[in-house]
Amino acid sequence: MSSSSEKPRIANNFSRAASVYADHAILQKQVEQQLLSMLPAQSADTVVDLGCGPCLVFPRLQEHYPTAKLIGLDLSYGMLREASKLSKRQRCLCVADADQLPLASNSVDVLFSSLALQWCQGLQHVLQQAHRVVRPGGTLAFSTLACGTLDEVHQAWASIDDYEHTNEFATVAEQYRLLLNSPWQLQAFRARTEQLHFPSAKALLKNLRQTGVNTVLSNARAGLLTRNQYRAVEASFEQFREASGIPLRYRTLYVVLHKPK
Ligand SMILES: C[S@@+](CC[C@H](N)C(=O)[O-])C[C@H]1O[C@@H](n2cnc3c(N)ncnc32)[C@H](O)[C@@H]1O
Repeated sequence: MSSSSEKPRIANNFSRAASVYADHAILQKQVEQQLLSMLPAQSADTVVDLGCGPCLVFPRLQEHYPTAKLIGLDLSYGMLREASKLSKRQRCLCVADADQLPLASNSVDVLFSSLALQWCQGLQHVLQQAHRVVRPGGTLAFSTLACGTLDEVHQAWASIDDYEHTNEFATVAEQYRLLLNSPWQLQAFRARTEQLHFPSAKALLKNLRQTGVNTVLSNARAGLLTRNQYRAVEASFEQFREASGIPLRYRTLYVVLHKPK
């Protein structure tokens, strides 16, 4: 969960990662595909991808909604610049904050968002914003993160210093309760653990930077590590090594909501 003063730092880190994001966002692409497969069949004129990053999902979204106008919104200008390079057809891209959606009420048929809402002020607030802009009969489909995400990263650093190296995420149960208490009708809910394996701690930490996940929102460490500290971090990650390498796990929620007419 972020506050408005942290938005520039979040946007800058994603912008810094933007040019290499597409090559390294392996897990993010898997999650996006899962979420796509859960979209209901419905006709749509306006489909918005909120926190769209470089819009890697646009071709599949356009296949799913062939006649729809696609709109990509993101806090990071750098991500949208990448999106405009990738784009072959005319698309509408706009810098925007999911916490203050610059969209008219009841104007969107499908609001899609993959792995972006965990950076916002809180799920309850986003659900209200989304409920205002989605038209009656429309859909909000999103993936987000829950407690259990990046646990190995948290534990590996815990023995090194007292700073935070990961963000806090609400539990699956807390997020489920918020959904049930919202004005939305819950159509689908899945909690899964997605994981990647890396040959080394160095490769794992690099992946976090290359996908912009390295913004720690409170009590973050500033400054570089000494060589000895870095070796200690690497050794600490080794305790988690499995046959396929050092794991990086994301506790992921997939949610599809319907706005009743
Ligand atoms: C992990 S990336 C996901 C990008 C894309 N949805 C994907 O799955 O590849 C998260 C994206 O959310 C954006 N983001 C973070 N906070 C946001 C906010 N408050 N409003 C809009 N976008 C935000 C970031 O700039 C980044 O592009």
